[in-house]
Amino acid sequence: MGSGREGIYFIAFLLLFSPSELRFSEAATEDPIPADWPHQFHALMFMNRTGSLQKLDLWYDWSNGRNFNIIQNQLDNVVTYDLEWNNGTSFMYTLDPSNPTCQVLHVEVGILRPNWLQGATYLGQQRVNNFLCNVWEKVDFIWYYEDVLTRRPVKWIFYSGYTAHVMTFDVGAVLEDSNWQAPVYCFTENEEENDNPILRPAVRGGSLGSLMRGVPHRETM
Ligand SMILES: *[C@@H]1O[C@H](CO)[C@@H](O)[C@H](O)[C@H]1NC(C)=O
Ligand SMILES: *[C@@H]1O[C@H](CO)[C@@H](O)[C@H](O)[C@H]1NC(C)=O
Repeated sequence: MGSGREGIYFIAFLLLFSPSELRFSEAATEDPIPADWPHQFHALMFMNRTGSLQKLDLWYDWSNGRNFNIIQNQLDNVVTYDLEWNNGTSFMYTLDPSNPTCQVLHVEVGILRPNWLQGATYLGQQRVNNFLCNVWEKVDFIWYYEDVLTRRPVKWIFYSGYTAHVMTFDVGAVLEDSNWQAPVYCFTENEEENDNPILRPAVRGGSLGSLMRGVPHRETM
């Protein structure tokens, strides 16, 4: 601090503009905000959880109140289906004839809203995967990278390090209705297998939706 006068100005400045006010005034003027998600899209994603890779088909279908994550671990034939309805019911199942499994989960919240990124904190621009991106962080839970030019998501990272790389993003793509039917064994056995419905999806962690649902909502999600 140079002179005493500067010191006083500096303290006055700090008193007048608390960090939250600074952030607010910046946001009000120039911070970009993330694009809402299209009401229907298909994204093919590669996921990385500390070196374990997954291929994930995300069928987001807000218009019909449903969201599908179809997950396959690298070089593993078992496909896990995570079908989420906006009424809070999720079906997690495999279709493997030798070992059909299904878990039915009931959670308080529905699927992600198209504007679930609202209120995220802008962190500036960063070049990732050869794309210049705007970057936001939401409730210390997710870091979200959006292509500056096209405003498509490029990547997101969960607090756990679980990372999604978006490979394709087809706006308007809809999975046919017949594919949204959970198998019959979801409705006969395992109905009661509903222990710890909040934590379990986060542990499985197959998807954005599950992970978001696994978080106690501190804000609107
Ligand atoms: C996956 O993430 C780990 C760090 O968690 C990193 O070392 C590795 O390079 C990543 N692999 C790919 C294919 O991105
Ligand atoms: C939610 O909707 C799905 C699909 O229509 C249905 O199978 C499920 O039983 C519903 N859950 C509740 C709690 O109503």
